[in-house]
Amino acid sequence: MSQPKLILSRSIPFKIPLRFFFTAPLFGVLAAIFILWQGPLAFTTRWSPGVVAVTHLMVLGYIVMVMLGALLQVVSVLTGARLPGIKRTGLVTYLSLTAGTLLLSAGLVNDAADLIRLAIVLLALSFILFCSVVIMGLLTAQARSDAAGRMWLALISLVLTVALGIWLATGYAWDNFTVDRTLTDIHLTWGLLGWISLLVMTVAYEVVPMFQLTPAYPKVLTRWLSMSIFFGLIAWSGGILLANAFIVLLGSLVLACGLFLFALTTLWLQKQRKKKQPNVTVWFWFCAMLCLIAAIGVWVSAQFYLPLKQAPSYALMLGVLMIAGFAISVINGMLYKIIPFLCWVHLSMKVTELGVSRRHIPNIKTFINNSHAHLQLLLHLLALLLIVVAILYPELLLIPAAVFFALSNILLCWNLFAVLQVYKKSETEIIANAMA
Ligand code: HEM
Repeated sequence: MSQPKLILSRSIPFKIPLRFFFTAPLFGVLAAIFILWQGPLAFTTRWSPGVVAVTHLMVLGYIVMVMLGALLQVVSVLTGARLPGIKRTGLVTYLSLTAGTLLLSAGLVNDAADLIRLAIVLLALSFILFCSVVIMGLLTAQARSDAAGRMWLALISLVLTVALGIWLATGYAWDNFTVDRTLTDIHLTWGLLGWISLLVMTVAYEVVPMFQLTPAYPKVLTRWLSMSIFFGLIAWSGGILLANAFIVLLGSLVLACGLFLFALTTLWLQKQRKKKQPNVTVWFWFCAMLCLIAAIGVWVSAQFYLPLKQAPSYALMLGVLMIAGFAISVINGMLYKIIPFLCWVHLSMKVTELGVSRRHIPNIKTFINNSHAHLQLLLHLLALLLIVVAILYPELLLIPAAVFFALSNILLCWNLFAVLQVYKKSETEIIANAMA
């Protein structure tokens, strides 16, 4: 694999990605409050407005929020591209994504067409701005890397997901406008398996060896896997649209095998870690890969056992394993690495700019309080376990599940704020030293 060289001097202002990163766990808390407010009975079938609303608080407000912030950062340092007007576009993208997500969820649950219309406009604006910045970055890249190629596939999946999402939302926003519900499955599959999974893979190939001190992913995997999954998605969607069961099966097999291979390889690499020091990110990724394997297991079982496929809990289980189990776990683990790393990068740039000794930059490991991070991991795992079992016993367990999920995200926010405190203190010291 060609290891990309990071062009750190092209890093965008720190506050741009930070806004996205700190807002995400707040959406987690909001999703939990929403569940408590609606009550367990609102979450027994995937088609209830409560489920669709809470799904988008999680996918748009949490997962997409972090992914957009991270991508704006990554594109600048990975490709060395200058991103023109990034301060303004970053802010408008952030504000319209936040407001659009809130309005979409509020509109869906209250059946308020006006709110959904406004949400469509804001979300379209947010994604158009974001995609223009990233596409411009990728096209004017100084350095080309395999990662940029894989990013294109994730980006195409995002465009398709959003376009289909907006189309589906118009069905709720205008009377006498009915949309084909088959498109819902195509929309969510491109979102979860295309945009989210392909981006997680792209990121994993670069950061799992770097942050978790594992060997690199096998070259054959990094070269072919994303492409195979992308074609699996095309085949699967084509099969659905043409009502051809054979093509659907073929596409599904490629998707299931590809994702299984990715999860298994990641677990295998984690087993070969060079230094086995406590590392909360390793555990979050371990949990994420187990949930991905469990989701594939549930899906495969349903293909052979029809009553499972027809049960209302089946789709909910797949959604929970993919969204809360896989994507949110990966994101929690990544935030504990990305934010200290960015703090370290910005402090490094500051000491160079001011001509101060590098000894004022704290060791990157000291940014995180390990015991607090492990406590948050524990809360996350408990919440996850409760959410999974709550699918079967919602009246009994959905409330405690939501409470633990909220607590986990509050502690995540607290832990990340503590990182910023270390950053601010060191920055003040560096500036004081430069003036002395
Ligand atoms: C990457 C981003 C997105 C992901 C991962 C995603 C995921 C999902 C999922 C999992 C569902 C199924 C929910 C269920 O079965 O209960 C769904 C449905 C839906 N999504 Fe999205 N979504 C995304 C973006 C959007 C956007 C931007 C919009 C609109 C502006 C949107 C509008 C909708 C609507 C209206 C439905 C319900 C469709 C129906 O009732 O048949 N989504 N989405």
